[in-house]
Formats: sequence, C-alpha cells, structure tokens
Amino acid sequence: MTITVQPNAKTTKQVTRVNSWNGWDPLRHVIVGRATGTMVQAPEPAVQRDFAEDGFPLGTYGPMPEDMVAEANEQLDNFANLLESRGVRVERPTPLDFSQKVATPDWSHDSMFGCMPPRDVLLTVGSEILEATMCYRSRWFEYLCYRPILQSLFTADPQMRWEAAPKPRLTDASYVPGFWDVYNTLTTKEQLARVAAHDLVLTEAEPLFDAADVCRFGKDLFVQLSLVTNRQGYEWLKRHFADHRVHWITSTNTHPLHLDSTWVPLRAGLVLHCGERLADAELMKYFRLNDWQIIEAVQPASWQHSPRLSFCSPWLAANVFNLDPNTICVEEKEVRIAEQLDKLGFDVVPVPFRAVGPFGGGLHCSTVDIERDGVLEDYFPRRSGRF
Ligand code: ARG
Repeated sequence: MTITVQPNAKTTKQVTRVNSWNGWDPLRHVIVGRATGTMVQAPEPAVQRDFAEDGFPLGTYGPMPEDMVAEANEQLDNFANLLESRGVRVERPTPLDFSQKVATPDWSHDSMFGCMPPRDVLLTVGSEILEATMCYRSRWFEYLCYRPILQSLFTADPQMRWEAAPKPRLTDASYVPGFWDVYNTLTTKEQLARVAAHDLVLTEAEPLFDAADVCRFGKDLFVQLSLVTNRQGYEWLKRHFADHRVHWITSTNTHPLHLDSTWVPLRAGLVLHCGERLADAELMKYFRLNDWQIIEAVQPASWQHSPRLSFCSPWLAANVFNLDPNTICVEEKEVRIAEQLDKLGFDVVPVPFRAVGPFGGGLHCSTVDIERDGVLEDYFPRRSGRF
C-alpha cells in the first residue's frame, strides 16, 4: 500500500514577488494598516489639529479614544480577511508606542502618529518599494512600522529593490513661518490661488513628499504638489524614476493632501475624478488625447456625515480599491458611487470602513500593493503641453 501525502495549502511554498505598476491589475499580495495606538498629533509646523468639539482643541494631543480604535481595527481586520478569502496574501504593520516623544539632532516632538494609512509612507513601482520622506515630524519614524515587512520581502524576493528617499531634516527652514494663522483666514478663492501657485506650508529647503501624492499609471507617474509634497520632492522623484515620465499636477482643492480621493484610476483607459477638485486643464487634455475616459464622481452619500476626530473629507467615498480591472472595493455606505461603478460594468465589493476614516483614510489609503499581475505598460503614447 502506498500512502500519498496530500499537499497542504498552508505549507505549500508561496513565491514572493514585489511587482506592481498600477492600481488596477489583479491583486496578489498587499499591506493593510492598523489603527492600534494612533494619536491625535501634537501641533507642529506642518499640521495643526483642532478638534475642539471632540475633546482635542488646538494645542492638545493624545491617543485616539479606545472605542474608536477597537471599531476601526475590527473593520481593518474584516477587510484583511475579505482579501484573504479572495486569495490575496495580506501583511500587517507592527505598531510602535506612538505616544512617545521623538527627536533627531535638529528637533524634538511630543508625539508620533500611527500606522493606519500605509499608502502615505510606501510607494511600490515595479519591483521597488520606496519609503517616502514624509514632512510631518510626527510621521518621521513611521517607516519603522513597515521594516519587518520590508526586510522579509527583501529576503524572500531576490529581485526586490528596497529604497528610501533622503531622510529630511525638517528644521524650521522647511516650513513657512506662521502659515496656518494666515491660510485659515483666507477666502476659498484666495486659498485656491495659493494652491495653484503651489505657495503652501512647505518651503523648498529640501525634497519632501508623501507616497500617496503619487498616482501610478504604468510608465507615467503623476505627483500632486500639495500640503505634504513640494517641488523638490517632485524633482527627486523625477530623477529617481528615470525610466518613467514623472509629471507634477495640481487640483482645485483648498487643502490638497494625497491624490487618491481626487484622481483615481479605475482600469486602463478610465479615470474617476472628483468634480470639486478639478484636475488642471493640461492634465485633462493629456488624458483625453490618449483616449482615456474621464468620469466625474457622483456626490458622496456621506456628504452630511462628519465622523468624530476626522481630518478627511467626504471624498473618501472615491478612495476605492481595485482587486482587478473589473472588481472594486467601495465603502459599504457609499451606495451612490457603488451604483455609478456598477453601471460602468464593475463588480462592486461593499466593505464596511466608516470607522477607519478618522485614522487617516479609506480603502485605498489603508493599503499598499506588494504584488499585482502585469507588466510595465505605456498608456500615454501621445505627448501634450508640459506632459
Ligand atoms: N485628503 C483626502 C480627503 O480628505 C483623503 C485622502 C487620504 N489619502 C490617504 N492616502 N491618506 O479627501
């Protein structure tokens, strides 16, 4: 009698490969953030929290309420389980004690932030994962939460390129003095003029960028100049990704911060944009010239909804996450966007995620691609204007 040993799915060696060129190819392996330990940050030049009604008036800081952390973690775990049930491998960051004071030789700061939106910190381009500079002192050390994952990817995949942008000094020279006192008193029109001129809180003393200000479309990478990304940051990315076309863009958002609720690829040839944050005219022209369809997102279902301690806008509705070019995860209550995507032929997967918003974002923010099928493609064969 011969005994055949059944291969056990759990012990079968999985091949680990870092590979992702865009946000829509079929997903195989991903990072999902955690809410554990997240802080309302102590005020710093780049960001000032003022949640007077929720117990954290300007100048105060401290841990997010425990009930909110528990609910957010439950939704994040549920999302991770859903991905695993669809055959996607999931990695999770290792939280630090974010309530600790941090310091470099140049400055000290009273708190860290958290490890919920991994999308802000890590940028995957092909076989490379790049640690962004960040520009908040409270987020300077956040990359440490991802080092166990990055180290294991580096060990498992001989092709993986592990990169880190130059750690910034973040001295006072990196910030416009008294920026918020002035900016908060401007009219919307005046604020939009400042956004268009990219005259915001960051100076050009050194390269600064958040990974979530970069949107990947194969050979083309779009970098939003924002409250957390400066021209030097764009310039660094452009030189770093020398085989790509790297473009700077702006939007009509008074508080531009991360591109992934503003200009959202859905599949090759189709991009969603949120009308109140009109992309610049040249960008729209570039897409149309290359036969991309640009659709305007319907109003979020959550327009009236303002969750406690949230610094995100209702446009988190558009922060959708592709499992493949036909399947998109959408926040469960965002029924209007779900319907819009359904009509465009997508399989919509509703995911309860409301409780995660106050921790820094939606379904796209909470993830980082490790592996998607697919190769580097050029979706923009024709040039136009500064593109
Ligand atoms: N700032 C955007 C908004 O409030 C949210 C985008 C957050 N994205 C992120 N990667 N954390 O509309």
